[in-house]
Amino acid sequence: MSNISILILAAGKGTRMKSDLPKVLHQVGGVSLVERVCRSAEKLKPSGIAVIVGHGAELVRNEVRQRHPKAAFFTQRVLNGTGGALRQAASWLKKQKGDVIVTCGDAPLIRAETFSALVAAHRSQKNLATVLTTELLHPRGYGRIIRESDGAVERIVEELDATEEERRVHEINTGTYCFNAKALASVLPKLRNDNAKKEFYLTDTLELLRDAGGRIGAEICPDSAETIGINSRIELSMAEQTVNQRKLAALMTAGVTIIDPASTYVSDEVQVAADAVLLPQTHLVGKTAIGAGCQIGPFAYIKDCRFENDVIFKASFADSAVVRRGAKIGPFSHIRPKSDLGPNVHMGNFSEVKNARVQEGAKINHLSYLGDAFVGKSVNIGAGTITCNYDGFAKHPTEIQDHVFVGSNVNLIAPITVGRHAVIGAGSTLSEDVPAWALAVERSKSIVKKDWAKHRAKKRNKK
Ligand code: UD1
Ligand code: CA
Repeated sequence: MSNISILILAAGKGTRMKSDLPKVLHQVGGVSLVERVCRSAEKLKPSGIAVIVGHGAELVRNEVRQRHPKAAFFTQRVLNGTGGALRQAASWLKKQKGDVIVTCGDAPLIRAETFSALVAAHRSQKNLATVLTTELLHPRGYGRIIRESDGAVERIVEELDATEEERRVHEINTGTYCFNAKALASVLPKLRNDNAKKEFYLTDTLELLRDAGGRIGAEICPDSAETIGINSRIELSMAEQTVNQRKLAALMTAGVTIIDPASTYVSDEVQVAADAVLLPQTHLVGKTAIGAGCQIGPFAYIKDCRFENDVIFKASFADSAVVRRGAKIGPFSHIRPKSDLGPNVHMGNFSEVKNARVQEGAKINHLSYLGDAFVGKSVNIGAGTITCNYDGFAKHPTEIQDHVFVGSNVNLIAPITVGRHAVIGAGSTLSEDVPAWALAVERSKSIVKKDWAKHRAKKRNKK
């Protein structure tokens, strides 16, 4: 869209969140409220983005700057209302060409399409200001839209300042507007705080623009869930639901099977290929990508991972790892950061890997820990095998080359290398390298005393 800029109000304190964190930095679907607003806005390719910061200014600035290095910031030192917030950006507004969308940093669900529709209505109706409204069954707390007989907007009245009759209006101000930028700047000095809250109201600019001869219009957003402003943790959880259900709907439309959307959580940036199946209680978080034909869950938590196609992953945790095609993981596996599990690897039942490169077809099926390890092709890791990678000071590597057979309950004291095709007997604790094709066993000789238990039983009976 040409000749459009965005101004985001984000100076407020958010008292009802009862939080040390500024309200707009709380997250929905793993992304902060203000960043969500920026992302929707960014889709319009605006010529400028400005943010009014105040409470927690430094933190909010840092958050926005990460992805929007060109954003302008204005600090509102005294929180004297939404009109006071606008005044901080007066000089910026004067420099903007065309129209400006003014919106709130705590309204994270407004889609780019809705911003576009607002601007389109504003332009086709030739308005100086257009407010995004919605209809609520229970409009309590919101500014009400007072219309003229021809449908144009006369003014917005805040609930505290409204008459009985005005309070009965169900069309409310969502807090998002489109203005002619220069006209808006020109009326800001005229705002007064002679109202119930003794604040400067942004909403009063509408009347001022109308008095100056401009037309004020409204665009109704049909989905009131989209315009929700977050004031409390309850609203935060409602937004979380909305965002999650939107994401799941998009995935299902794109060919992903989701058995139980009520218990499936997928963050915005996650990618899932068609014909993957997400079973109940699956959580896909961060920058995760899931390949075609994967079966994830039930009970899965996967964060910042890349899964190739046809992986089966049950009741397990994975963080910052790659899992390659056809691997079968779980139940009860823990895949920790910097691990790469090769094609057709099997891993399960209380096994843990960390910084481990596991090659094609290796099996780690029971009760093992492999840390800072390389595990070659088709290696068998017996139940209870542990890499002793930490000596209390530093971490050391373990290398288990292709086709090695490690028996059960083996401790490999790193640094150590086990050569190709070697076999390690069950119960061994090894601290020296094992050459290729060797057998290594470290086990004290067992003592077997014939009929010993019988004698013991007789002794006990005599007592
Ligand atoms: C405002 C509107 C109301 C509308 C509602 C929608 C006014 C006067 N009223 O009311 O008509 O129905 O939003 O949610 O505008 N902010 C600042 N500086 C301030 C005060 C607020 O930057 O001094 C920011 C807040 O961070 C927030 C936004 O402005 O992002 C809205 O502020 P809030 O106090 O929630 O406005 P409401 O009183 O709810
Ligand atoms: Ca042992």
